[in-house]
Amino acid sequence: MERIECWRAVTPEARSWHMRIRHRVFVEEQRVIPLTDVDDWDADPETIHVVAGRGSEVIGTVRLYRTDQAGRWKGDRLAVLPGYRAGIVGIKLVRFAVSTAAEAGGDVMDAFVQLQNVVFFERIGWEHNGPPVPYYGLLHQPMIFRLAEARRLVEADIPVDAHLRLPAARDEPSALLVTMS
Ligand SMILES: CC(C)(COP(=O)(O)OP(=O)(O)OC[C@H]1O[C@@H](n2cnc3c(N)ncnc32)[C@H](O)[C@@H]1OP(=O)(O)O)[C@@H](O)C(=O)NCCC(=O)NCCS
Repeated sequence: MERIECWRAVTPEARSWHMRIRHRVFVEEQRVIPLTDVDDWDADPETIHVVAGRGSEVIGTVRLYRTDQAGRWKGDRLAVLPGYRAGIVGIKLVRFAVSTAAEAGGDVMDAFVQLQNVVFFERIGWEHNGPPVPYYGLLHQPMIFRLAEARRLVEADIPVDAHLRLPAARDEPSALLVTMS
């Protein structure tokens, strides 16, 4: 099976794939966002657009950016094309996002998570951060990933599986930490 890679979508072609996958999933498939999911963050040159690929195919996306609160990053627009789900693409995209924010010195990453995906995020170390709130008219669970804490554990060489609740048998539980070092 071909390896799944994640990278920053900086070329026009990669950016186009990123936007098309988002549109396909959030506008056409889920219909949670009407007409277009493009917003002001997409025009911000500091925003990081990410794609995941397998072989020559681009099959998933995520987006992240620094908020105006010191040390606080936000991740959103996590999407894997329907035919490629349950193949660890989503996990790789989230790990790429948190690693990128951690390397940039972030302390925490926030996300509004669709309720059906809360377990997915819990399993990779995200915590609830308050009650569900409406986002695009649909209830989402605010969740948080503690980047600084993960970085501290890496630097201290402390085993992290239990702390971050990364199940040991899953896809290279320590991969997140390796990429952060
Ligand atoms: C949510 C999403 C990104 C997950 O991506 P994915 O590539 O399917 O997830 P992965 O394969 O990396 O998941 C890893 C594990 O989590 C599980 N998982 C995936 N989605 C899950 C969910 N919603 N709830 C619980 N477990 C989930 C997978 O089955 C897999 O477990 P396994 O290894 O025991 O089989 C994908 O389903 C998607 O794009 N959904 C539509 C868009 C969306 O909802 N985006 C997120 C908005 S918050």
